[in-house]
Amino acid sequence: MTVQTIETTPYADQKPGTSGLRKRVPVFSQPNYVENYLQAIFDSLDGFAGETLVIGGDGRFYNDVAIQKAIRIASANGFGRVLVGQGGLLSTPAASNLIRKYKAFGGLVLSASHNPGGPDGDFGIKYNIGNGGPAPEKITDAVFARSQVIESYKTIDSPDIDLGALGRQQVGEMMVEVIDPVADYAELMQALFDFDAIRALFASGFRMTFDAMHAITGPYAKVIIEGQLGASAGTVVNGVPSPTFNDGHPDPNLVYCKDMHDLLMTPEGPDFGAASDGDGDRNLIIGKNRFVTPSDSLALLAANAHLAPGYKSGIAGIARSMPTSAAADRVAEKLGIEMHETPTGWKFFGNLLDAGRVTICGEESAGTGSNHVREKDGLWAVLLWLNILAARRQGVDEIVRQHWATYGRNYYTRHDYEEVDAAIANALVDDLRGRLPTLPGQVLNGLEVAYADDFTYHDPVDGSTSAKQGIRIGFADGSRIVLRLSGTGTVGATLRLYLERYEAADGRHDLDTQLALEPLIGIAEQLAGVKARTGRIEPSVIT
Ligand code: G1P
Ligand code: ZN
Repeated sequence: MTVQTIETTPYADQKPGTSGLRKRVPVFSQPNYVENYLQAIFDSLDGFAGETLVIGGDGRFYNDVAIQKAIRIASANGFGRVLVGQGGLLSTPAASNLIRKYKAFGGLVLSASHNPGGPDGDFGIKYNIGNGGPAPEKITDAVFARSQVIESYKTIDSPDIDLGALGRQQVGEMMVEVIDPVADYAELMQALFDFDAIRALFASGFRMTFDAMHAITGPYAKVIIEGQLGASAGTVVNGVPSPTFNDGHPDPNLVYCKDMHDLLMTPEGPDFGAASDGDGDRNLIIGKNRFVTPSDSLALLAANAHLAPGYKSGIAGIARSMPTSAAADRVAEKLGIEMHETPTGWKFFGNLLDAGRVTICGEESAGTGSNHVREKDGLWAVLLWLNILAARRQGVDEIVRQHWATYGRNYYTRHDYEEVDAAIANALVDDLRGRLPTLPGQVLNGLEVAYADDFTYHDPVDGSTSAKQGIRIGFADGSRIVLRLSGTGTVGATLRLYLERYEAADGRHDLDTQLALEPLIGIAEQLAGVKARTGRIEPSVIT
């Protein structure tokens, strides 16, 4: 086995987005495409000689091919050890845990999250740093810059390693350890949650369904929920990871989990339903007759976290992404703890978590997590919910209603317009941005604009600034319109419109969400003209 230096030429499109480099499989399969990008990552890092690298992915099409390349390139670049999940599998939170637990230098997470997979589907590569979280912009910018001038990469002429066999294999000077992808993660969950109480809940007849969407969380959920917590066999559905996600779309929302939602709305259905996405970092929570929005779920988990052993001494603070509803802010206020509003993307929580300023974080896009890892964590959210249900012995609906009666309700929805012409989408956002200074003081549909800006984040830990993170238009009554362009779409542009209205603790909490937000939806169209300018009559997805 000899180390080789192979000449190459740059690809112009290797700019990592919100969650690493995400493209269609045919793009990744171009000659040297993966090699260039991995070499650009390693060229942008210092001090990893002899260190450990964690590698794993969500099992989607091309995962196995990319992993073999990554192992060779890691060896040729001087890593001392690679930890890789058996079958090349690791959920994103499990990868984060391994990096932290085994003090790895960093990790490669191979996934395109909730995007469809397959020969024409999406693939992705994300680099995580030693704290277990996504690389900060400083690094991703350096990787992109390097990818634009790359002239060669290093690899080694060694055979593929056997990803199916647990144990050690040698690749050049580097040791590869194929490990059980579930064991360390399950151990962490046991340390955080009251497994005895949850087992007792299931033993008392409580029934749940967990949809792994043919993606990564199947093996994790089977071991933990059916195995360790004693839920009946069949609780986990679609539990075998498939390279194409069985031709599905592994995004746990009300569109792709409609059947489960409908089942939970029937008297015969189970008490609790949950799902996770392609790489296991997102979650969907549905109680009997009650869908819990991710923004509400964040607030509820924060308010009840002390019921779980891992958080029994309370939480230090909460962080949410800017478009996420302000429901959690009310909890932080009541608990007298720090509350932070960050740009979209989990990487912005890393500094706050590392500094111990926040314990629980969340995004409206079905991501919730805590300081136990540095990624959002789908199963963690499900298990914390189960712990709360076991401790309170109340149903989800009752818990949600009591929460609103205490804190008030933030009616909230997100309207996505997908695959919009990028030029139209950019012009639309630019136009609105240009008009923002004229808005404060105007009264629209009876609501007075209190502020209008393009969100700029000042990181309180490292002092860095991130500008142009999304347009916010706030109203005097606490309502809010947010508009931003997605950073994860792979075709054209995706426009996301977020709408929120606050109803106080003694107000009406039983309105239909879309109806409750109708006036704001009207104002948003009046201001941004998404429908008029894109020619769409309705959003592609409403969540
Ligand atoms: C989306 C979500 C964002 C999440 C990201 C990665 O990004 O909105 O909250 O962090 O996926 O899962 P977007 O496409 O909006 O840039
Ligand atoms: Zn994901």
